[in-house]
Amino acid sequence: MTFAIPALALAIFAVSVYRFTNDLKSVNHIPGMRPLFAPFSLFGAAFGTRWWNPGLNWPWEWRKSAFFNHTHDVISIVPVISGGSSVYTCSMDVAKQILAAEGKTQLFKPRRIVAGLLLWGENIVAASGDMWKRHRRIVAPALTSKTYALLIIETIATYREMVDAEGWRDNDHISVTDFNRLPRKLALILIARCGFGLPMPWVDAPTENGLTFGKSLTIVTETVIPRLVIPTWLYKFPIERIRIIEAAWSGLGSFMHTFLESRKDELQATDDRQRGDILSRLVTAMDSVGKVSLNEQEVLGNIFTLMFAGHETTASVITATLGYLAIYEDEQEKAYAEIIKVIPERQDPTMDVLQNLPHLLACFHEAMRIYPAGVAIVRELTEDITIKVKRPTEEQLTLQQGTLVVVDMIALHHNPNVFSEPDVFRPSRWYGVPEHDISMFGMGPRACIGRKFSHTEALCFLFLFLRDWKISVPLRDGETRKEYEERVMGKAGMEGLVLGVGPISLKMTRR
Ligand code: HEM
Ligand SMILES: *[C@@H]1O[C@H](CO)[C@@H](O)[C@H](O)[C@H]1NC(C)=O
Repeated sequence: MTFAIPALALAIFAVSVYRFTNDLKSVNHIPGMRPLFAPFSLFGAAFGTRWWNPGLNWPWEWRKSAFFNHTHDVISIVPVISGGSSVYTCSMDVAKQILAAEGKTQLFKPRRIVAGLLLWGENIVAASGDMWKRHRRIVAPALTSKTYALLIIETIATYREMVDAEGWRDNDHISVTDFNRLPRKLALILIARCGFGLPMPWVDAPTENGLTFGKSLTIVTETVIPRLVIPTWLYKFPIERIRIIEAAWSGLGSFMHTFLESRKDELQATDDRQRGDILSRLVTAMDSVGKVSLNEQEVLGNIFTLMFAGHETTASVITATLGYLAIYEDEQEKAYAEIIKVIPERQDPTMDVLQNLPHLLACFHEAMRIYPAGVAIVRELTEDITIKVKRPTEEQLTLQQGTLVVVDMIALHHNPNVFSEPDVFRPSRWYGVPEHDISMFGMGPRACIGRKFSHTEALCFLFLFLRDWKISVPLRDGETRKEYEERVMGKAGMEGLVLGVGPISLKMTRR
């Protein structure tokens, strides 16, 4: 008996050493981090970012120092105690080599990583292999020029609702704290209205239990991670916070179901397959067979996923763009001049107009480079892949089947070997860069399908907002703009599932 405990400890130690050694071998001994827990594991996520635990926020906090100050194209993370190992890259070149292989070797999206998006059903973002091809074939073409035309109309309408509801109509000087909530609400409303024809006003009408569609959706998008972690039996307990989460989730389920059913009826009654929104296309796919069909569960899964992918990302970049334009007044004036040049009268913008705002678009891209909302592209290798790396030395590296590979979008877009002076907000670096080189939307066959949706929405909103308001930042006594930038814009982190700048305040003056 007396030997049992030391023997057990020794056995655990031996197993750990064995596992750790094997994990090191599986990542080819690529140098990197050896923390206690893997960042994507339960413990890893529970503890904050410390030297012994990267946690969830290390890609932002260590954006300069990880990858040995960008002297290495790839690093490995091999945890000592728990969680799987992984290989990370900050190199554009390596990212392209890996992601270009997508079509041929069918990289896999690990189920545990996309679990949050699978709660309603299979969908384009979570699926892999042939199933992904089927979803992509149906969902990508569902975004049409009709969708974007509708999006412009709804962005203009929503902006006006916002101006009224926020009480800006009769004020010439306004201070807004936590401006972030406004683009978030705007983007959610727009994906709901234009993606799915769901009525969602800026000011929700009250309902019996207080949980409108909009409120439920907001709660659901904010609680995906708790929902995955909280065991189901806990939902039976009378804890107010948990009860609301439960009500929002089940409420959203029945909302989506109702919308789906009524759309089915409408489509049957009118045979109107020409509507601009995505839902009609998805519902139509339910009647088809074979390569272009989706079942009901998959339609729900895609609706939910698109609402997710389609709103927090764009919202976070709109906020960051305004945050920077408030600091860099010269860039803001340049954007304003461009806006009033393209429509001298105060008419509503059209698609033609929005496609003629190169500087404003560059500002949006530059904010997106600094805060790439889609922070990580994660894949599991289904076979060995040999890649060429340049740093620290030029060589070929073989990554083994089963390896978890992560393109670190933050480190990549802050990599001085790719973007000179990466800390500087300099929109001009995006002038004339072709669409498919805007790497913040991903690379290869699985790159973002919402690029045009996001551009249209953001440019339309920024156009309207910057035409009406001159914005600046509330500096503290004696604070310089540079200091303000470091204090406020330097603070970023995960908001829901995307990277976003911390809360920003804006001072607005009517133009
Ligand atoms: C600033 C805004 C956005 C950013 C930064 C962004 C970023 C990305 C990135 C990096 C990927 C690739 C993920 C991967 O390969 O694992 C992606 C994929 C995707 N995005 Fe976006 N996105 C944005 C807006 C949108 C919008 C507005 C929608 C929908 C209307 C959308 C829908 C999707 C979908 C469905 C995919 C999955 C494509 C596939 O796997 O085939 N995104 N996005
Ligand atoms: C990275 O740069 C910082 C600051 O210049 C320096 O203190 C640190 O030692 C460098 N780290 C590595 C691994 O080179």
